[in-house]
Amino acid sequence: PNYISVSKLANLLNCRIETLMKDLRKLGFSNTTHNYILSKEYVELILQEYNYNLPASSLTLTSANAYDELKSPIDPKLLKKRPPIVTIMGHVDHGKTTIIDYLRKSSVVAQEHGGITQHIGAFKITTPITKKNITFLDTPGHAAFLKMRERGANITDIIVLVISIEDSIMPQTLEAIKHIKKSGNELVVAITKIDMISRKQDREKALDKVMNDLINNDISIEKIGGDVQVVPISAKTGENMDLLEESIVLLSDMMDLRSENSPRTTVEGWVIESKVKKTVGNVATVLIKKGTLRNGTILLSGDTYCKVRSMTDEFGKQASKAEPSQVVEILGWKSLVNAGDEVLQAKTEAIAKKLIAKRAALLEVEKEATFVDKLNEKTAFEL
Ligand code: GTP
Ligand code: MG
Repeated sequence: PNYISVSKLANLLNCRIETLMKDLRKLGFSNTTHNYILSKEYVELILQEYNYNLPASSLTLTSANAYDELKSPIDPKLLKKRPPIVTIMGHVDHGKTTIIDYLRKSSVVAQEHGGITQHIGAFKITTPITKKNITFLDTPGHAAFLKMRERGANITDIIVLVISIEDSIMPQTLEAIKHIKKSGNELVVAITKIDMISRKQDREKALDKVMNDLINNDISIEKIGGDVQVVPISAKTGENMDLLEESIVLLSDMMDLRSENSPRTTVEGWVIESKVKKTVGNVATVLIKKGTLRNGTILLSGDTYCKVRSMTDEFGKQASKAEPSQVVEILGWKSLVNAGDEVLQAKTEAIAKKLIAKRAALLEVEKEATFVDKLNEKTAFEL
């Protein structure tokens, strides 16, 4: 990218194109148009001759924050309680999916609906005893998760770290521990597959080993006066699964999780999954972070937008609205969105289109601006 058009340079310099073209003519450039392409050397010359400097503002508006005007600061008065979002992590084969399957089957809602009919990347359960809602995020290893993590988006409230009683801490357990510490998420440990060891003394011994390994990895479990709950479970027999749910509910109650949600709160969320469905077109599974989503809302994500045509929940049932911590599959996207991208509400389609075009332009300028950027440091010093 050693070339830039006059109009984009004017854009970067935050000056009127006409002014820049006048200066160019004085320097001997004839027939310059908006689309006239300047080489790096010429840009350098222009910057030096006319004391142009790149204003900070031209560099702070980037494609990454092009949609920031759609985000509003949180109004504490409008905060409402919301269910916790829980992610299950752990070493391969330690039993993450089995736990999820068990929770799904035991969920009150699943029983009412005759089982969960479609798989979406996240789902809500209602605990059998306390009747509390919990949103579980499935397959946290997948790409969307990594992308959100990269962007510093912390969409999980609680992580359940799954450790098999037979293996204790393994390489991916350590990775998960690293992530948990960095993210600052709350933690519950589930020591699973306890049904594999039937003799009571042997089981106690194995549990102690896992606990010690946790302590050695600086996890302050309750046993040593810390606040991390450890629950021995079997997702196969269901033993203590109610305790695991209780632990999560207890922890989330203490966290007092809230999101802004009022009729005037604009919707924000994250794309968990997206795909093209043969009969209905582009669909996206979205986790709602704030606001209440309804049909007809205009949403924007990445380089595309959507007028919400319909929403379905994890049971394949039509949903009339989706509130914070809820996950819905949304129909109506103009093109496919990317998992891991943020979703924001725009007031009108026109605003959505305008912002998408602005972001696209910024992306182009950024491609070309890399060298002007470097140049700026140099000329600022020289001038
Ligand atoms: P990956 O997704 O591959 O990382 O594995 P996972 O952590 O999801 O493990 P999964 O739930 O697939 O379980 C792995 C194996 O352990 C399966 O054969 C399960 O049936 C078995 N398993 C899981 N939980 C339990 C348990 O509590 N008791 C017993 N006996 N077996 C279990
Ligand atoms: Mg699995």
